[in-house]
Formats: sequence, C-alpha cells, structure tokens
Amino acid sequence: MLVLGIETSCDETGVALYDTTEGLLGHTLYSQVAMHAEYGGVVPELASRDHVRRLLPLVREVLSRTDRTLSDLGGVAYTEGPGLAGALLVGASVAAALGYALKLPVTGIHHLEGHLLSPLLAQPAPRFPFVALLVSGGHTQIMQVEGVGRYRLLGETRDDAAGEAFDKTAKLLGLPYPGGPALSRLAQSGNSQRFSLPRPMLDSGDLDFSFSGLKTAVLTLVHHTGADERTRADVAASIQAAIVDVLVGKARMAMRSTGLERLVVAGGVGANRELRARLDIAAARESFAVFYPPPDLCTDNGAMVAFAGAMRLATARTGAQGFSVRPRWELASLPSTT
Ligand code: KG4
Ligand code: ZN
Repeated sequence: MLVLGIETSCDETGVALYDTTEGLLGHTLYSQVAMHAEYGGVVPELASRDHVRRLLPLVREVLSRTDRTLSDLGGVAYTEGPGLAGALLVGASVAAALGYALKLPVTGIHHLEGHLLSPLLAQPAPRFPFVALLVSGGHTQIMQVEGVGRYRLLGETRDDAAGEAFDKTAKLLGLPYPGGPALSRLAQSGNSQRFSLPRPMLDSGDLDFSFSGLKTAVLTLVHHTGADERTRADVAASIQAAIVDVLVGKARMAMRSTGLERLVVAGGVGANRELRARLDIAAARESFAVFYPPPDLCTDNGAMVAFAGAMRLATARTGAQGFSVRPRWELASLPSTT
C-alpha cells in the first residue's frame, strides 16, 4: 500500500510517500525557520498561512519526483496532534479532501508516535520491545515500546522539554532560533568543564526530568561572565554538557530498570552529536544497542507520518476517519495495532 504522509504540526511542512513493500520512496520538506527567526520563535498564525501556501506544491513535487500519481495512493496519513491548532488544520483538511476525492482511507497520526517509530526507517531497524528516549522541542519522555501503539510512559519532564532548554538558553546567548543546532555548533569550540551548571534531577532516582532551573542558572551565568567569543563557546559547551549528562543518565537508568537491550532515540534533539557520542559510549560499555533515525528524519518530517500511517492503515482497527485535530493529545492513550 502506498501512503501519502503529511506533517504540518508546527513550523515544517513535510510530505512523503511510504510504500509497505518498497519502503520510503521519497520525502520533501519546507522549513519555515527563516520566517519565524525574525520573531525569535514560531508565530502560529504565520505558520498556518505558510502551510497553506506550501502543502499542495510539496505533494505535487514528491509525486513527480517518485514518478507516482494520486491514483497510485492507497491511503493518506496526516498529523492530527499535538501541535498548533491552525497549522494542524491545514494538513487535516488537505488529507480529508484527498481521501474524499480519491475514496481513500485517511488516518490521523500522533506526532510523537511518528517520532517514536522513525528509527524503524533506518537500517538496521530496531526490533520491539525497546526503550525510547523522545527528545523534541515540546516533549521529553522515556517510553517502553512493545509494539505499534503499545507505549508505557516511564518518565517525562515536569517543566521544559530538552529542546526547549536548548532553545531558551541559546536565546540567552544571543543565538538565533531554533537554538539547539546553533548552540551545539558554538559548543564545538568550547570547554564544557569551564562552568559548572546544575544537572537537574539526575539523582532523583526516577526517570523524570526538569530543565527550567538550568535556564535560570544560565541567566545568572551569562549575567556574570563576559560576552567574548571564547566565553560564549565555553558557556554553550557547558550548557550542552549539562543537558546531555541528564539525558544520558536517565537513558542508562531506563535500560537498567527495564532490562531491555535496545534504546531508540527520537525527536529533534536526537540530532545532537554530543548526545549521540555519549550514548554510543554508554551503549558499548553497558551492552545495549542504540538506534537513531537517519539524521534528516530526527526533526519534523513527512516520512515519519507516512510510515506511522502505513503501520496503522495496515491494521483493521484504524479505518477511514473524519476531519479532526487534537492540539493536546496523550501518546499513552493511543490504541495498539496488535
Ligand atoms: O522534533 P522537533 O523537530 O520538533 C518538535 O516536535 O518539537 O524538535 C525540535 C527541537 C528544537 O528545540 C531544536 O532546537 C532541537 O530540536 N534540535 C537540537 C538539534 N537539532 C534540533 N537540539 C540540540 N542539538 C541539535 N543538533
Ligand atoms: Zn516533532
């Protein structure tokens, strides 16, 4: 079955085609980052209007690039939530219209399920069950994943998400939005030992996180140190080390407490090189395997939606759906496919 995937939950318009026998045929993305950068963050109304402009041309582009036509489609998947209501509605309405016009099943996908399953698009793909470290701009969660839709929440952030911590502290350093990639670039030339920043909840004994205190600590630090290039790079490296230390510490603890052998990392922060390097070292030492999505599929994209859609459309339990969006939506509430 050939599934068209549409992602419009935030500031990226993503479209992809996934075939259940041939795999991912193609995906294309338009990022609104430059448009929002001027405002230092995503402006919801501008985001939805831009999705309206970009979405249909991207659908045409991915079809022509993969030499397919609308009549080849067997189903349509779109991000139903969580996300910005107006932005979600753009993808939902295009998916519903295509489904209606072409008489195809349409399924709404949970954005985090898309991220969670995206490592299955890489080779080798992890087998179930696994532990998933889900680190995006809006969420930081550790889940036990037994199968599609069989997710058990083991721990999550009590305040800011890891991506948010990168973005907010990067802003304090005067870096452009989105801060994560910019901060990690600056950190490459910095000394992470120079400033000691808190590792919130690292020793809390559970799998929960808290990153809001880090932002306050960085605010004080930036206030008291100079703003020369060297110092900024050292602050950036110290921030990255603090966030990565906590993520790696909790991931290791989740591997120990579940006794599982596979760790999967998903979401935008999963693109962070320092995080990957540190997890690789821990995995080698502690005999578990770690899996990442292909780097271009870490941040928001249509491929993860097409893939999750293919998994769900392949089972009888998910049929054609109406036209709905869920700006707030718990991942653990999803039905399983087995
Ligand atoms: O998964 P994603 O694209 O969107 C959400 O669903 O939130 O994640 C975006 C987040 C942003 O906070 C961004 O700063 C962060 O991922 N991010 C990074 C890196 N690339 C993206 N954070 C640290 N290092 C990176 N290389
Ligand atoms: Zn995302």
